[in-house]
Amino acid sequence: MKFTVKAQGPAKVASQAVIVSVFEGMDPLEGGASRVDAALSGTLAERLKGEAFQGKCRQVAVLDARGALPCPRVAVFGLGKKEEFHPGRFREGVAGTVRALRERGVSEAALSLDPGTLPAGPEAMARAAAEGALLGLYRFDLYREKDDQSTKELKSLVFLEESRKGKGLAAKGLEAGKTVAGAVLFARDLVNMPANEMTPGLLARRAADMAKGRPLKVTVFDRAALKKMNMNALLAVSKGSDEPPKLILAEYRGGGGKTKPVVLVGKGVTFDSGGISLKPAERMHEMKGDMAGGASVLAALRAAADLGLPLNVSAVVPAAENLPGGRATRPGDVVRSLRGKSIEIINTDAEGRLLLADALAYAERLDPEAVIDVATLTGACVVALGPEVAGVFGNDAALVEKIRKASEETGEPVWELPLYREYGERLKSDTADLKNTGGREGGAITAALFLENFVGKVPWAHLDIAGPAFSTKDRPDVPKGGTGFSVRLLVALLRSWTEGPAESGGGR
Ligand code: BES
Ligand code: MN
Ligand code: ZN
Repeated sequence: MKFTVKAQGPAKVASQAVIVSVFEGMDPLEGGASRVDAALSGTLAERLKGEAFQGKCRQVAVLDARGALPCPRVAVFGLGKKEEFHPGRFREGVAGTVRALRERGVSEAALSLDPGTLPAGPEAMARAAAEGALLGLYRFDLYREKDDQSTKELKSLVFLEESRKGKGLAAKGLEAGKTVAGAVLFARDLVNMPANEMTPGLLARRAADMAKGRPLKVTVFDRAALKKMNMNALLAVSKGSDEPPKLILAEYRGGGGKTKPVVLVGKGVTFDSGGISLKPAERMHEMKGDMAGGASVLAALRAAADLGLPLNVSAVVPAAENLPGGRATRPGDVVRSLRGKSIEIINTDAEGRLLLADALAYAERLDPEAVIDVATLTGACVVALGPEVAGVFGNDAALVEKIRKASEETGEPVWELPLYREYGERLKSDTADLKNTGGREGGAITAALFLENFVGKVPWAHLDIAGPAFSTKDRPDVPKGGTGFSVRLLVALLRSWTEGPAESGGGR
């Protein structure tokens, strides 16, 4: 997609379609829409109402300009109520609109960044628009023959910002939006790749490839190194598979020599069959996305590097494939983890917490400022919060608050669940220091409590993204499949770390 910024109005621009946005009720029409309305002799609101369009969120109408404009089509999307405006509404609206235009075979369009009463500056609007366009138009069609739909492409989008000063700000927002969305798409691709082409080794290679040409250092520890380091909980997960495990370490040092890194840890189970505690066949294929946490943290690091954020960040991704096999870990097996604690593996399907246990212990050795792990950890979290909301846990209220703020800014919803220490009882084993399951009830909480045993004395937060990492329905800016959930949130969090809350590029 080619983006440009022009100091032109929507009634003057020549393209295949011009896009404007309106608040609910459309009374009066403002900004870009009012200028298009004037060119249409004041008929815009009337014509939209004829299409049962009121300007609500997610409404899109495409009208014929009937020769009144240089563009043959006018696309209008709704922003909802003016008082409830967030740039996230603009992001979603742009996403839905560019998709509707692509379906109609439109290959170039121009978008007014001005909805009238300016609820956010041109920088935030351009950023939201770039994110919306790229996130909404995303397709994963690597494995499909080209058909009529997939060859249709929106190739160029012009942002219209009439003021000179605004144009510079819009260009800046556009760049940031492209960078962040590019990272989200990188994560989506990794999640959508089938497990036969996204093994631990291939995930490590993707990380190394991504680092090329960026100020990032990637180190990959192989099975022999993991044995030497005593990462036995990670090794236990991989034992039933012929695919060797990897520990991927990616480092970005934008903060200079002495400052401690923020360490992001992401679950990298490239396929989760459950192991000997085998999952049912129904929906097992979705477990190719069980490395979504790992994909997110690598993507966040990529964006941090591209944005040149002034801090040190490291990503740690323990990667393994969880299969049943002749050498697989059995229920009842005991392993000694990197931290020294022994774990009785009651259920081999609770594998995420095993490899995260070693990765969290490893993270502490990087002398972190804070540790945040991201994992598709429990079905119980999906039962608790549904498919679109992530669970957040933490041992540090200020860190959890930072995450909540970032979440609000980007519109990736999280809800805090308690580290209710009484439930720690449920993880007591008869033979080892801990067992890896705490029963069905409160499963997201016992999983988080299990992880806490391996964290040490650092501010730590845990995001359970089992629900939102993968979507089974299309939303405007989140097509079906891997969502890249948490990438924008992590980037917003890292930004806020150094500069206070960034100018919002999202929200709901
Ligand atoms: N990867 C799954 C969790 C999951 C479930 C992710 C649904 C995405 C969608 C995890 O490894 C798992 O199997 N968890 C078990 C834990 C249980 C055995 C204690 C679960 O949630 O059932
Ligand atoms: Mn599992
Ligand atoms: Zn899993």
